[in-house]
Amino acid sequence: MKRVIEVRHLVKHYTRRSFFVKEKPIRALDDVSFDIANREVFGVVGESGSGKTTLGLTTIRFIEPTQGKIFVDGVDYTSLKGKEFERFRKRFSVVFQNPSHALDPNWSVSRIVSEPLESVTQKEKEQMVFDALNEVGLPKSFAERRPHELSGGQKQRVAIARALINKPQFVVLDEPTSALDVSIQAQILNLLVDLQEKHNLTYMLISHDLNVVGKLSDRVAVMYLGKIVEIGDTIELFRSPLHPYTQALLSSLPGKKQFLEFSLVGDVPSAKDPPSGCRFHTRCPYATEICKREEPKMLAFGDTHSVACHNTHLVKQKAVQHPERIGGFERA
Ligand SMILES: Nc1ncnc2c1ncn2[C@@H]1O[C@H](COP(=O)(O)OP(=O)(O)O)[C@@H](O)[C@H]1O
Ligand SMILES: [Mg+2]
Repeated sequence: MKRVIEVRHLVKHYTRRSFFVKEKPIRALDDVSFDIANREVFGVVGESGSGKTTLGLTTIRFIEPTQGKIFVDGVDYTSLKGKEFERFRKRFSVVFQNPSHALDPNWSVSRIVSEPLESVTQKEKEQMVFDALNEVGLPKSFAERRPHELSGGQKQRVAIARALINKPQFVVLDEPTSALDVSIQAQILNLLVDLQEKHNLTYMLISHDLNVVGKLSDRVAVMYLGKIVEIGDTIELFRSPLHPYTQALLSSLPGKKQFLEFSLVGDVPSAKDPPSGCRFHTRCPYATEICKREEPKMLAFGDTHSVACHNTHLVKQKAVQHPERIGGFERA
């Protein structure tokens, strides 16, 4: 596996500034480490508020991490400043969930798509916009349209054209189809897969939809309250999830057999005051004393699968076995 991105001990705390009150920071990411290989689709799943968006945006320094290191092709990206940083940053791009929010309603498609371009002539710009629209399956005539004249799927195609215009190496896809009609979702996902193959792109695919992540990702990271609690090869992780949280997420898939006899109840606790020890212990049926006290470390189970749980053996033993599910997981 050729690594392109190596993230080490990444931390992001959001602090609200106020003159009078010193508020506790929101610990959106807490000591997260992972690698992403060249041309890989790296999936990230977890409930809302678990830190997925923050993980995506800090990895590419579209928001600054509080601590930690990011190496890209061996270069310490976190140490780059000024012009050097601006230049390097062009290797990265992002597609957001809601294209209606991401596109300025007063701008033409042409202006939206070409906005990230620098030092090109008007003629080159025009050609690049036409090429970019063609890539995402939109006719040239769309260049003059405004966002309100486009459907949801067309808007997302425009957002993708914009994200790819500078020929990035790595693209964060933050819930790229969550705001779209189900009938349109597959078209957009297929387009993203085609573009990845054509341009040798590497993706971080963020989604709370396990079906989407399961179908498209090579590897998956499961996030809970600012931590990666399990990470592994997609097929392996979907067949034999080792963290009770992952098991609970997978069990919630409609029409799928349950891995567990319990289902996830309650909300994710506050990221301002995360539970002590293992952050999942307040919702975990297997929690023991040590879980309240000590934060579990990531342990490797085989070459491609790691989990942070004190009671993995208990969890494995208690997991409901469904032989028909083993091997029954289909990939696109
Ligand atoms: N700009 C921000 N300022 C303050 N808190 C934020 C900001 N963005 C996210 N958060 C908080 O950080 C945590 C993680 O959020 P986020 O990364 O958006 O998670 P997800 O994408 O999984 O829903 C949440 O508690 C959220 O409220
Ligand atoms: Mg998000």
